[in-house]
Amino acid sequence: MQISKIFCTFANLLDKSFPADDQIVYFFMSVHTQNTRLTTTKIRQMKRDGEKITMLTSYDFTLARLVDEAGVDILLVGDSASNIVCGNQYTLPITLDEMIFLTKGVVRAACRALVICDMPFGSYQVNDDEAVHNAIRILKESGADGVKLEGGQEIADAIRRMVQAGVPVCGHLGLTPQSVNQFGGYGLRAKEEAEAEKLLADAKALDEAGCFCIVLEKIPAALAKRVTEQVSCPTIGIGAGNGTDGQVLVLHDMLGLNQGFKPKFLRHFAHLAEEVNKAVNGYVAAVKDESFPSAEESY
Ligand code: KIV
Repeated sequence: MQISKIFCTFANLLDKSFPADDQIVYFFMSVHTQNTRLTTTKIRQMKRDGEKITMLTSYDFTLARLVDEAGVDILLVGDSASNIVCGNQYTLPITLDEMIFLTKGVVRAACRALVICDMPFGSYQVNDDEAVHNAIRILKESGADGVKLEGGQEIADAIRRMVQAGVPVCGHLGLTPQSVNQFGGYGLRAKEEAEAEKLLADAKALDEAGCFCIVLEKIPAALAKRVTEQVSCPTIGIGAGNGTDGQVLVLHDMLGLNQGFKPKFLRHFAHLAEEVNKAVNGYVAAVKDESFPSAEESY
């Protein structure tokens, strides 16, 4: 068992068993939070070492704990929670308070992985002061290690100020779902040369502003590779081919929980919707035929 996992497990046990002001809790919690989660410095180093970076979305304590234990590098509390958790058609309706609420649970679960929280639509577009204020709010209230926001040169100043204030920032270019009303859909981005050149310039602006990584969503593989070679920070692809420094998927999609959604870039690493269906059918049948609970399952 990794030393970090021992500290994390112990810290969580103590947190549950002792009053919050007990000194020993603080000792182990501080070892857990300060020394054991991956840092943005390590994520940058992984690019230099040629080690691929893994990121998956997480929205709750239970699944985040499993994903963290399985060894993923970054847990992203994506605003895809708007779709996956809340059932909205778009990412736009989810609020800052809702993102902070979800992120708190994921942070409690993460022993090893870096935790990033998406800044929701409306929380950083109005002006730079509000953007920095909301990024700081996320770190203070949720315990996340950094934030992610969508956009290029137009938000580079806000990002620079966040980084100067001590907030690690992950950029997001290509298909940016918060701009769905502008794009009119979720198609492949930057197919044409002009848009590809703009994306490259945006990536360089984000890199220069201090982003510790950039998500590239649904763009041609050749362009993603070009961006990856021309920025110093790591790139994390989704539907962007194999030439990026890392990959990200929406957890519920890759686990096969989201049956109706199967774009070309998505691989199902499990088929959990079928498993859930089987389990619930079994439960319903067992209650109806009175085989559950059995004598052994009763007090
Ligand atoms: O919100 C999200 O899940 C994301 C990923 C698709 C990168 O931004």
